[in-house]
Amino acid sequence: MRKIAVLTSGGDSPGMNAAVRSVVRTAIFNGIEAYGVYHGYKGLVEGKIKKLECGDVGNIINRGGTFLGSARLEQFKEKEVRNIAIKNLKKLGIEGLVVIGGDGTYRGALALSKETDIKIIGMPGTIDNDISGTDFTIGFDTALNTIVESIDKIRDTASSHERVFIIEVMGRDAGDLALYAGIASGSESIIIPEKKESIDTLVERLIQAEKRGKKHSIIILAEGVMSAPDLAAIIKEKYGINVKYTILGHIQRGGAPSGIDRILASRLGNYAVELLIKNENAKAVGIKNNKLVNEKLEKILKTKHKLDLKIFEISRQLSI
Ligand code: F6P
Repeated sequence: MRKIAVLTSGGDSPGMNAAVRSVVRTAIFNGIEAYGVYHGYKGLVEGKIKKLECGDVGNIINRGGTFLGSARLEQFKEKEVRNIAIKNLKKLGIEGLVVIGGDGTYRGALALSKETDIKIIGMPGTIDNDISGTDFTIGFDTALNTIVESIDKIRDTASSHERVFIIEVMGRDAGDLALYAGIASGSESIIIPEKKESIDTLVERLIQAEKRGKKHSIIILAEGVMSAPDLAAIIKEKYGINVKYTILGHIQRGGAPSGIDRILASRLGNYAVELLIKNENAKAVGIKNNKLVNEKLEKILKTKHKLDLKIFEISRQLSI
């Protein structure tokens, strides 16, 4: 392995810079040239690939977003488009590619790997934590902390005014962010796609909590279930309860990565290059029980990420 490239793709996540830094520095440490691809698969197709030196990834471990830029490219599903990407890598003599992103990124990587001898390794970078093959994705911890900080602030005003608040959080179809944030902030209700409950049950719990003396309530709603305005409107219409809502939105995707995310990104980046040096291909790296692991991309994409519902049970018991 003499030359490798790295790209970030899909929704950005805090820690992607630390991940790129780790890939580039590990490569250079091992005598391999490192290249950065700008704006994900889009840049790969447009040939926006630049050689990176150690200094190019200096001062970025602490920065949110991704200095390489990111994009979602629908057309990457087309073979002809992927062929252009392969040609661009070949032109530079690149023999290995590390892609950092979520399941869309992994899908692109798997398709590419079937059409070229360039070795490809995936790294899980998304705030959603919705990738199987790893306990945690890069960016999840930082987003979780951002959400918890925001909920703490909303709780102050909810408590002063004795109000019910719905806080909608990201996560696409996964409830990880909502569940972890709900527990960490002591929220009264957590609504996630993996454990649907009827709105009647939710409201009944609100009423019971009020009877027990709770004057305010925080409901964490995963975006994969429904939107906060819709839920607030239903509660108002059916039960006449006024509910305030906040959609946290893209604030969850930014900010300096947490220490945990920087370390995760650094470990995974180092491991991804180690696998390329061993000529491994079409795999993704992850962390399980604090051990670095790798798994075939094909298997990861076929396996649905599972949220530990025992944690949900804990939230029920603690929010009485
Ligand atoms: O996958 C990351 C994520 O932030 C999801 O949580 C969210 O649903 C989506 O991306 C938002 O995408 P966009 O930035 O394209 O609006």
